[in-house]
Amino acid sequence: MLLKSRATQLLTALLLTSTVSAQAQQAPYLDPKLPVEERVKDLLSRMTLEDKVGQMTQAERGNIKNLDDIGFYGFGSILSGGGSVPGENTPEGWANMIDAFQRKALEAPLKIPMLYGIDAVHGHNNVYGATIFPHNLGLGATRNPELVRKIGQATAAEVYATGIRWNFAPCVCVARDERWGRTYESYGEDPEIATAMTTIIEGMQGDYGKGTVLATAKHFVADGGTLLDSSTTGNYSLDQGDARITEEELRKVHLPPYKAAIEKGVGSVMASFSSWNGLKLHAHKYLLTDVLKNELGFKGFVISDWAGIDQISPDPARNVREAINAGVDMVMEPNNYARFVDNLTAEIKNGNIPMSRIDDAVSRILTQKFKLGLFEQPFTDRSYFDQLGSQEHRDLARQAVRESLVLLKNEGVLPIKKDTPKILVAGSNADDIGNQAGGWTISWQGKSGDIIPGTTILQGIKNTVSANTKVDYVKWPEADEAKGYDFGVVVVGERPYAEGQGDKMDLGLGDGDRRAIQNVCSAMKCVVVVVSGRPMILTDDLPRMNALVAAWLPGSEGQGVADVLFGDHNFTGKLPITWPRSMDQLPINVGDAKYDPLFAYGFGLKY
Ligand code: GLC
Repeated sequence: MLLKSRATQLLTALLLTSTVSAQAQQAPYLDPKLPVEERVKDLLSRMTLEDKVGQMTQAERGNIKNLDDIGFYGFGSILSGGGSVPGENTPEGWANMIDAFQRKALEAPLKIPMLYGIDAVHGHNNVYGATIFPHNLGLGATRNPELVRKIGQATAAEVYATGIRWNFAPCVCVARDERWGRTYESYGEDPEIATAMTTIIEGMQGDYGKGTVLATAKHFVADGGTLLDSSTTGNYSLDQGDARITEEELRKVHLPPYKAAIEKGVGSVMASFSSWNGLKLHAHKYLLTDVLKNELGFKGFVISDWAGIDQISPDPARNVREAINAGVDMVMEPNNYARFVDNLTAEIKNGNIPMSRIDDAVSRILTQKFKLGLFEQPFTDRSYFDQLGSQEHRDLARQAVRESLVLLKNEGVLPIKKDTPKILVAGSNADDIGNQAGGWTISWQGKSGDIIPGTTILQGIKNTVSANTKVDYVKWPEADEAKGYDFGVVVVGERPYAEGQGDKMDLGLGDGDRRAIQNVCSAMKCVVVVVSGRPMILTDDLPRMNALVAAWLPGSEGQGVADVLFGDHNFTGKLPITWPRSMDQLPINVGDAKYDPLFAYGFGLKY
């Protein structure tokens, strides 16, 4: 059956090629002077059912069986999942790979360009040498929407440099329980911050012109509001869980950032894996269509998450039917695009999905492609190659690191004097750029170690002190190794993780870091710097610390930490999330009736 229909399609396409291609040269949809609506209407009228189904399909680069499939199916999009990189992980390597895909896409009779998508969630994080900005939670601590707009522009320029025109960012999730592994992807626990930081969309997407990319507000909706699920014995999970909240809470806490994103013109929205009161968002017509598209007026397109439709039920055909009818416009189908295409085609032919729904989805997708100028410039603009990891962007990232730092305690020991004779630096995260970058860096989960260019916090300290100052580094010093120093900097925290693999029921510091605090802070004046994707439980160790700084996940420019510790810049950061006393306080959020945290939302000291 499949083979026969494929052969028919191919034959039709070949027969059509002579007429359609000839017509296509004069076709209105190829005229950039015409209004986008007219171009969409004209192109839609020329598309076969197969063309339309193809545009609603997003394949993953590593799972494309045969490059000819790109033109044969007419994929609307191809993506790189986290860490899915070309053999040569350089701007040229990316551009060559994506331009090769694009040439295949343009072999289809109507020559509709493919739109390539990726997660550049804190800079162009898949690409070696890109500027790695602080993750969103640190940007939330800056309370500086203008800075975040500039970060959007810089990130877009680096993504654009590699031939990619679609970024699955920003995550505008509102993290309500820091045990969630995606807390660091959130700007904070109160929607006011994510709402303000939608300036990143204006920076990234702007006027859709050169150097810009399509932005994605994600994950719609209430992905950060799920209830801790301990149903699977011994396991606990929050990620992709069920937000059992009232509609009032959903609208008050989780919806505002989407309203702001739509007002700023966001061109795509990604559906959440999670559920709302037991119904999967990927099948939620009320939220995806009635609220997002009709009530909030979203005119872009909805992309599903990674094989997200397959979580609706065990029946793939039902999943396609329910997702598309609910309002999903393009399906991220990393595993089996042929099955998806067959199921969608069959569901349309048997009348289970109305053609009006298909035409609406395809029109939404084509509108964004025309606005991006993809038909006029389908290939990489290689003049942007030097944008990747540029000094200007690294300086911007360093400023973001400075402004993200939150001073939680200072018994008059900070700023550290630059001419301090002997400084001991300790802790698991003092000299580990992989740990300070966190998840979604080069690989999906991220990795400890020297994985990207940049400066570690230790290197930043060494760059800042006077020539006569001696700086030693001992990761976890024993008591006798912590003697004879004038000041100690202990940089503790978490190792990298992403998504559900970061769901944790114990946010305490590791034993090595705790011993380092004990040995260093009992022997000298000290500051503890926490490099983590969320607040950590350190109440018992707090009395030993003369000073405490939250640094979140600063990324590649660790120098920004020393800039503030040694007084070249003052602290300006404020907590974007409540810092709990103990695990049994969780979830704890500003506005709770009973609210007695170690440090409150919005807290932050200065010199
Ligand atoms: C992931 C994430 C989503 C990301 C997508 C593509 O599972 O949920 O944030 O954009 O897959 O990598």
